Amino acid sequence: MPATPEKAFYVTTPIYYVNDAPHIGHAYTTVAGDVLTRWHRQRGEQVFYLTGTDEHGEKVLTAAAEHGMTPQDWTDYMVQTAWQPVLREVDIANDDFIRTTQPRHTERVQQFWQLLYDRGEVYKGNYTGPYCVSCEEFKLPSELLEGGLCPIHGRPVKEISEDNYFFRLSDYADRLLTLYREHPEFVQPASARNEVLRFVEGGLQDLSITRSTFDWGIPVPWDPSHVLYVWIDALLNYATAVGLGTDPDTFNRIWPPDVHLVGKDILRFHAVIWPAMLLAADLALPRTVFANGWLLVGGEKMSKTKLTGIPPAQITSVFGSDALRYYFLREITYGTDGSFSWESMAARYRAELADQFGNLASRLTSMVGRYRGGVLPTATTDPEIARMLAETVDAADDGFCRLDFQGALGATFAFIRAVNGYVTTTEPWQLAKDDARAADLDTVLCTTADALRACAVLLNAVMPKAAASLWSALGAEPGLGPLAAQRIQDLAHVRLPAGTQVRKLAPLFPRTEESAA
Ligand code: MSP
Repeated sequence: MPATPEKAFYVTTPIYYVNDAPHIGHAYTTVAGDVLTRWHRQRGEQVFYLTGTDEHGEKVLTAAAEHGMTPQDWTDYMVQTAWQPVLREVDIANDDFIRTTQPRHTERVQQFWQLLYDRGEVYKGNYTGPYCVSCEEFKLPSELLEGGLCPIHGRPVKEISEDNYFFRLSDYADRLLTLYREHPEFVQPASARNEVLRFVEGGLQDLSITRSTFDWGIPVPWDPSHVLYVWIDALLNYATAVGLGTDPDTFNRIWPPDVHLVGKDILRFHAVIWPAMLLAADLALPRTVFANGWLLVGGEKMSKTKLTGIPPAQITSVFGSDALRYYFLREITYGTDGSFSWESMAARYRAELADQFGNLASRLTSMVGRYRGGVLPTATTDPEIARMLAETVDAADDGFCRLDFQGALGATFAFIRAVNGYVTTTEPWQLAKDDARAADLDTVLCTTADALRACAVLLNAVMPKAAASLWSALGAEPGLGPLAAQRIQDLAHVRLPAGTQVRKLAPLFPRTEESAA
């Protein structure tokens, strides 16, 4: 019998609306997913990381019209010039990029809804009520701010009245409540879970799933005078991208998702509507929906609509992509809101990346060059540092696996600080003056070089460029193999072998005038 292939660890980001260009709020979630992906790969797991674009709906249609383009030309243009390039800008290693206008998506979405229609899960009715085009969401009148404004966008909502098809969402309230109770890990963090529980306990209304006043959407298979509501088309991207209905081998290898990363504004879609759709189709449910907070500007959600969006390139051109990736995950507790400021970015860059990590790497590589001709000597490593390393690996693994990026990076940087402290206290520059202490100097050099070997692996998920430079300067590959092949589980047991050729390293995080500002 052929071996059953291992199920992949499946990570997704929301698919992004192409009405506008990306800002760092979008990059934040995509980076978090990328770090999770790279970390799990280094644990030796198969990982599938999906991102993409959400191209239907009124919002995109309006943006295209404002630019005098057809919606398809507009989405092609935005994907090619903005949404795909931003992935390279922040160094994303995704496995696939799904676009909701691709036939692989539209055809499978039609099959899915036809199935639910045939099962009696869908009926025809009339929707009358408020709709926020910016959210692409039907709202309850009780949710609106004074003056009938959307609570998220602060903009007027539209009053719509249409004959639509409805999905029997209200039938699923009890099953969803059982799901949340039996699987507390399904919605995270706890604040998000409580919000979802309160919402569903208040009772669910059936959901309008079609629109008939415009045609930029997937035609309803049993009634082409309607298009599917953009959200119930978009949510299915997670399943269509991995072969729902037509490619069972791929689907069974990857489905269900292990982590859906979503912003807190789109939590209900993912934690209420989406599992109800999957239950209706008898498909396995995702393991976790994890809601992250917002990047705020002046206390409000950063947004292009409000002209407060910062393009990622504005930050990477000053600090580089590694620093952007590091900063947001270190600065903000994942799951809560946070703010960006140039001052705090520059402060972390200087104090943590340049002065702690970068400096340790420069010190070590130049000392091995100066004192040992660039060849790592033979010595046992310091037992206290070895013990700390083992603890750090456990803390980082636990943190990354629980999406506590801040905790994982905090533990790693505490270790880097401790190793810097060890170098300062052992004073290798004094040891080098005394031939009788050559063995002690060898111990300091080997301990520090090996600690940096581990740091390159521990930080590879967050700072792939710096980690690769360090791995190469340490000359680690000939003895230990490529950086990507290093296993987290082996990290505390492997050592950088004696005889390794260490090269002097250009600063990993150079100080530039702008970064020092
Ligand atoms: N297209 C839908 C998602 C469909 S998923 C099946 C959508 N798109 S979006 O482009 O408006 O937003 C995508 C993600 O970006 C959301 O998770 C949203 O929370 C996130 N962000 C948008 N602005 C943000 C911040 N200022 N801060 C953090 N995340 C933010 O919703």
